Amino acid sequence: MRSVHFLTLGLLLAGAAAQATPAAGDLAAAADLAKANGCYSCHSAAEKIVGPAFVSVADKYASDKDAVASLAQSIQMGSKGKWGRAAMPAHPSLSAGDVKLLAAWVLATRP
Ligand code: HEC
Repeated sequence: MRSVHFLTLGLLLAGAAAQATPAAGDLAAAADLAKANGCYSCHSAAEKIVGPAFVSVADKYASDKDAVASLAQSIQMGSKGKWGRAAMPAHPSLSAGDVKLLAAWVLATRP
């Protein structure tokens, strides 16, 4: 029983670490993707513009182990009602890999 618990904990920690710390090269690639796809017209790292500040998003989902998947879905399909009245449009031209990378990058934003 005990070893099963340790295994589960190990997997959770590995997942959390992978989610919180994308490699440095990936972070740079994500920042370029965000620039190229207009994310900064509605978002900034630390201040709310039309959409929430990326630090606020990282904070809100800090303990959510499914955060990469759910934020990836929000970016890809659009999102409304989670942060306020404004809605985020869908981004259908981004690949599944790109939206996951962007989600991990947003989650790694620190003040
Ligand atoms: C036209 C403005 C606009 C653009 C462009 C935009 N967003 Fe958003 N974004 C928003 C708004 C508004 C919200 C809040 C939506 C809500 O309340 O559910 C949001 C929410 C989010 C969230 C949180 C979603 C959640 O489930 O809590 C993330 C992450 C995000 N945006 C990332 C991005 C990324 C990455 C891009 C570029 C590919 C992008 N946004 C482009 C307006 C925008």
